[in-house]
Amino acid sequence: MPAPADVDAPLGIFDSGVGGLTVMRGIMSRLPGESILYLGDTARVPYGTKSEETVIRYALGCARVLVGRGIKLLVVACNTASAFAVDALREELGIPVLGVIEPGAHRAVQTSRSGCIGVIGTAGTIRSGRYQAAIQSLAARSRVVSKPCPLFVPLAEEGWTHGAVPRAVAHEYLDELLAQRIDTLVLGCTHYPLLSDVIAEAAGPGVALVDSAEATADAVAGALAAMGGARKPPAPEQYQFLVTDDPAGFGRIGRRFLGRDLGSIEWVDVA
Ligand code: DGL
Repeated sequence: MPAPADVDAPLGIFDSGVGGLTVMRGIMSRLPGESILYLGDTARVPYGTKSEETVIRYALGCARVLVGRGIKLLVVACNTASAFAVDALREELGIPVLGVIEPGAHRAVQTSRSGCIGVIGTAGTIRSGRYQAAIQSLAARSRVVSKPCPLFVPLAEEGWTHGAVPRAVAHEYLDELLAQRIDTLVLGCTHYPLLSDVIAEAAGPGVALVDSAEATADAVAGALAAMGGARKPPAPEQYQFLVTDDPAGFGRIGRRFLGRDLGSIEWVDVA
């Protein structure tokens, strides 16, 4: 990819809603100085239960809004959109597009010693088989076991991330995977890092958790360096937020996902 015309242009990030703020948080700490324009498609969340065709259509709509505002690189923070729509986005957009699946798969392969890796995500992400395929293309002898864990999403949004209820849900979902003797577990959904304490407790000390958000932040840094697109300090970075519905709710819940106040949030229409 050639260097962007404007290295001061923001990185674009989109997700079905607040979850992608965990990815934004990783990118903010890995790349201070980069401006970010974030779009949460809160009018159409969740993506995890939708068909591939619908997710591709939604993802293209979100990406067009961000590209129209002059981003230099697009990060698909949503695992479900990464699973279904990255190919279509790369085909249509004239800028680099990074999903969260390849970086997460890469980190999982680096982390696992036994080669037995668990992947958890939304129903759509697991059904797509994208994590499984990405891991196996990097390490053909690995064994991947996966499971959709849909209830983790509302628990994270409710702030119900500690205590008996999420602990019971984590065991219900994970015990079957743990019986397969995994040594690494990929948190293949934007919301799961908020539940990492209860997931780690249920998984036990022999299982390493892989957070795709951190791996994706490294991948974004690498892509910017490779294309000569990194912003030069000391120009101050700017963070801007767009949503397709309920800016107030997004700000309230998003605070926990980003770890700080979001400031003003603009309402946009996405076709
Ligand atoms: N952001 C989604 C993901 O990472 C989870 C929420 C949803 O289902 O839209 O797959």
